[in-house]
Amino acid sequence: MKGIILAGGSGTRLYPMTKVVSKQLIPIYDKPMIYYPLSMLLLAGIKDILIITTPSDKDLFETLLGDGSDLGVSFTYKIQDKPRGLADAFIIGADFIGSDSVCLILGDNIFYGQSMTNILYQASQLENGALVFGYPVKNPKDFGVVEFDKDKNVISIEEKPKQPKSKYAVPGLYFYDNKVVDIAKNIKPSKRGEIEITAINNEYLRRGELKVNLLGRGVAWFDTGTPVGLLNAAQYVETVQTRQGLYMSCIEEIAWRKGFIDTKKLMELGKSMKKTDYGKYIIEIAKEACG
Ligand code: TTP
Repeated sequence: MKGIILAGGSGTRLYPMTKVVSKQLIPIYDKPMIYYPLSMLLLAGIKDILIITTPSDKDLFETLLGDGSDLGVSFTYKIQDKPRGLADAFIIGADFIGSDSVCLILGDNIFYGQSMTNILYQASQLENGALVFGYPVKNPKDFGVVEFDKDKNVISIEEKPKQPKSKYAVPGLYFYDNKVVDIAKNIKPSKRGEIEITAINNEYLRRGELKVNLLGRGVAWFDTGTPVGLLNAAQYVETVQTRQGLYMSCIEEIAWRKGFIDTKKLMELGKSMKKTDYGKYIIEIAKEACG
């Protein structure tokens, strides 16, 4: 399975913060936002990752993350010249996806919770159809919203409905088989002029190939598109890390735990950031592993 991080967009809800730089490069507490979605793909065991950015941010992302070899994985970069919609990821990424299945994660989505590792592993085994998630939120109007019949079967997904039919929003983490590329190419822009991921999901639903897994209380999901969303996520990360002494979305640690890099490499990465608690944390893990 291939992975795509969609990290373009205009970030207008975060102006003036994001006037000159992508929101996915600004920090959530102690690390750039993109580390969080990237850590989800690594946890899913996905090693071949495409990062889609705006034209002006591409060099910055490449400077930050390189070609992936430091983490034992591969990063490819592509530009989205205009924010045409989430489904555009599969058109831009068609050659990259090739004949594989694919996981798309939005660059501003943060997930955390013990069950996530297992959820991601299970999802990454997908070979046919589509798998998305449903997450209860107070403001479903801002998202794609799942509609269920009385037996809890999914009957539709509505994009930003004025009158949501449930409280279950679809978060920005999607798994598809290879048909997604053709489906995306045939989607017409919506009233707001975007090619919507919701249209892709509804097409899979129409074919009887959409699975919606409901996420429970054990998982935290943050959409960091607004200043308050950004602050809430940062406070959450600080609280968890300070309380547990375990880091959230430390990509170096995950790459090492997954066996993508060895302990020597982990130590080297930690030492390159040794003045920060983040770097010290990595060094500590590497030391413990050496016994
Ligand atoms: P949004 O939050 O919907 O849009 P945005 O980032 O452009 O922000 P704003 O509404 O403040 O102007 O995007 C969700 C995520 O998807 C975000 O990480 C940016 C990314 N995105 C793209 O990369 N390309 C696109 O065409 C769209 C619509 C979003």
